[in-house]
Amino acid sequence: MHQEAITADQLTPSGQLRHLLHLRGLDRRIILDMLERAQSYVRPLDQVPARDDCLAGQTVANLFFEASTRTRASFELAAKRMSADVLNLDVNMSSRKKGESVLDTIYTLQAMGVGIFVIRDASAGIPALIATRVEPHINILNAGESDVSHPTQGLLDILTIRQHKGRLDNLTITIIGDIAHSRVARSLTEGLAILGDNDIRLVAPPGLEPDPALYPGTRITDDVDAAIETADVIVTLRIQKERIKEKSGLMTNHEYLKAYGLTAKRLERARPDAIVMHPGPMNRDVEIEGSVADGPQSVITQQVTNGLAVRMAILATIARR
Ligand code: CP
Repeated sequence: MHQEAITADQLTPSGQLRHLLHLRGLDRRIILDMLERAQSYVRPLDQVPARDDCLAGQTVANLFFEASTRTRASFELAAKRMSADVLNLDVNMSSRKKGESVLDTIYTLQAMGVGIFVIRDASAGIPALIATRVEPHINILNAGESDVSHPTQGLLDILTIRQHKGRLDNLTITIIGDIAHSRVARSLTEGLAILGDNDIRLVAPPGLEPDPALYPGTRITDDVDAAIETADVIVTLRIQKERIKEKSGLMTNHEYLKAYGLTAKRLERARPDAIVMHPGPMNRDVEIEGSVADGPQSVITQQVTNGLAVRMAILATIARR
């Protein structure tokens, strides 16, 4: 099913955020407010986590029709820390396995009082389709949509960049990997385009290049060493093998590390204070050398921490509208 063409309004008639489906075209003020709110929820890990009871009495359902660790766990924790009732549907044991459609699943849970749906799906267009069909009081949050959109990942990546660089413009940001299938690259570049003017370099191996029309204002190349030169931020991405039908042309792990992986040697080309990011899950010693993932320039675990704060901020934003 290819339903990317379905569009849904993310805002209420008064201009407040109702659904979060993608970052494309979102009001700059809404994004900046969510980043501020997320920052206010960040705590050192040895301190008591932030809490906010703004979702007391509300019910959040996490419907992940595709695998997830970070996004699913952080949405669950975020909802619980905001005092919501939380339902995690076990999709493999649900009536979808008996042929029930995703919309009928949503209507069923809507009838039980679920008001906020967090949805990950392998098909493009599903979050927008649902957003056009639910009752006016319902909120839909996109937790990863095929190769199209992952707006909460985009926001947590942007928050992490701002924490380290103190700004969101005039940066050189290099994204390396399977850009063709990356919803992470899509959402990050869509969000950055709203917030500032940056030199964004996309490095993809042959066959995994993105459609340039989806990445206006970026430079697409296969020259990884040149693209890392003087970078402030390097984002590494895994190859999304689950979205690639013909795998016979893919490089071996060792070949990939040599040709496109972020090794300690390659990282020397970037600015000395460059940060290294990865949305996870990562394949060590394939797209990123293990020592780089664990090294002093890596902010990968901070991305995870920020993911929880960002998801709390999004829940608070829709709850307080
Ligand atoms: N980055 C990300 O979406 O990770 P998960 O698939 O583990 O949620």
